[in-house]
Amino acid sequence: MTSKWKGLILAGGTGSRLYPLTHAVNKHLLPIFDKPMIYYPLTTLMLGGVKDFVIVSSPDAIPQLQSLLGDGKKWGLTFEYVAQNKPGGIAEGFRIASNELAGHNIALILGDNIFYGDGLSKRIQEAAAEDKGATIFGYEVADPSAFGVVELDENGRAISLEEKPKKPKSKLAVPGIYFYDPDVLDIAWQLKPSGRGELEITDVNRAYMERGDLHVKTIGRGVAWLDGGTHADLFEAGQFIKVVEERTGLKVACPEEIAFRMGFINRDGLAALVDDSPKTEYQKYLKDLLERSL
Ligand code: DAU
Repeated sequence: MTSKWKGLILAGGTGSRLYPLTHAVNKHLLPIFDKPMIYYPLTTLMLGGVKDFVIVSSPDAIPQLQSLLGDGKKWGLTFEYVAQNKPGGIAEGFRIASNELAGHNIALILGDNIFYGDGLSKRIQEAAAEDKGATIFGYEVADPSAFGVVELDENGRAISLEEKPKKPKSKLAVPGIYFYDPDVLDIAWQLKPSGRGELEITDVNRAYMERGDLHVKTIGRGVAWLDGGTHADLFEAGQFIKVVEERTGLKVACPEEIAFRMGFINRDGLAALVDDSPKTEYQKYLKDLLERSL
């Protein structure tokens, strides 16, 4: 992927469903087993080759996120932070970060979406190879009514898109990872708020569908897609990561490791991260990685 891509991570919202956990801490900093939630969407886009990110969050949360992530340099990345004063919808992210995003293709990921599985990086790299139009994914779920839902014709082209329909027309939910050409900014500026008063990402995708410029790729059951929206989701996602990590001895969504494996930092960069980390099991993991790579 070339540097024309910018990653847009939406890490705002009120997190009200997670109260009181989110009273003093931004939802995207809550733990998913051994790492803050935001590491998971961040590393998903890193695996697709994205190095430059805009992070949208509430004014209160931006200092918290900055204290964790900094300017990204230590991981060979860049982070710019943009405040969303009130949660006006996912698509509002494009409007408030227009200056930072102008002229770029944009890979949007929702800060509470967690992806894990075989072939995932390849799927993301394929989506990023399409630099015209928009690419979204379809993922079969038992109850699609809690999500954006896409209906496909026999050739795999989208024929309808609905946000949280009471009677879904298909079982294909649209996960929170989307790839757009630079036209998305104009589309976002033309949107009208939905019935619930939000600028909906599903309306952006429908605009691409109506232009005949929407690609839908399905993600199969080899990939797990989870989110951390409720207390139970948070708990289950943490358990899932725990089981995978303990079984394999490998970490899921470790930004230091992915930055190193993707070539965003070299051995010296990784060695500096090891030196800067406190003496923990996490540091030992990075140290082993460094030693194995000799
Ligand atoms: O998880 C995938 C689903 O995400 C999609 O299938 C839906 O089409 C999409 O609308 C969205 O639905 P949710 O109801 O799950 O979105 P939620 O309001 O929970 O927000 C998702 C993330 O975006 C969350 O981490 C907070 C962040 N966010 C949300 C809004 C509305 C913001 O940063 N700012 C916002 O204004």
